[in-house]
Formats: sequence, C-alpha cells, structure tokens
Amino acid sequence: MIVIFCLMTSVSATLGSSLSDQVHQTPAEMFHKPGGAALINCSHSIESYNQILWYKHSNNKQMEFLGYMNIMFETLEPGVNVKISGNANKDKICTLTVEDLSVDSSAIYFCAARYHSASY
Ligand SMILES: *[C@@H]1O[C@H](CO)[C@@H](O)[C@H](O)[C@H]1NC(C)=O
Repeated sequence: MIVIFCLMTSVSATLGSSLSDQVHQTPAEMFHKPGGAALINCSHSIESYNQILWYKHSNNKQMEFLGYMNIMFETLEPGVNVKISGNANKDKICTLTVEDLSVDSSAIYFCAARYHSASY
C-alpha cells in the first residue's frame, strides 16, 4: 500500500503567510496500489501568479524538487517519474501525476505557487 499525502506550502520569498490560504491542493490523502498512478491537483487564487512548483518529501530524505508548471509548460527534473499538466494561472488546475507507483512513491507531495516573470 502506498500512501500519498498532499500538503500545501509556499516557497516564494515574496509570498507572505496570509497568501498560503490561497493555494489549494486536493485530495488531502490517497491510498494506492503499486503500479498505478496517482493524480494530485493544485490551484491557487493569487492574481498574477503563474508558476506552480512540486516537491516530494519522503521519510529519511531531503525535500526533492520534482519540477514545475510555468503557465502551461512543464519542466521536470531529470529522473523523476512524474508528469505535470494543466495550467498554473489563477483559479486553474495544475495536476501532478505520480507514475509507476512503488513503495518509494510514498511521500508527502507539496505544491507551491509563485509569480514568475515571462522573461528570464
Ligand atoms: C483534478 O482535476 C481534474 C481536472 O480538472 C478533475 O477532473 C478531477 O476531478 C480533480 N481531482 C480532484 C481530486 O480534485
């Protein structure tokens, strides 16, 4: 049995704690059998924020950055078995799909929203 917890957090230095009320993640807890996939949704209601970042925190490990959705474009870290889809704009849904579930997939998954300027 694989347990996936979803919590919400914020990582942007400019994001105050009051804004964390405006990042929403569903479902709160999931139980899956190995081999399948788990979908976790994240949305936010912060005007102008356009990036959603995903993190995984497993027991005995450091927080792992999985990747992010920049408006509608995903960028994944090398070697992660996830997909990021959807849209990172206000009131849209960004979905993290954790694939090929195994015992190693049991973790707390975090999403965070922030503003990212279109020009690098
Ligand atoms: C996640 O978002 C998708 C697409 O909008 C929706 O169909 C699905 O019901 C949502 N799942 C949860 C758990 O909110």
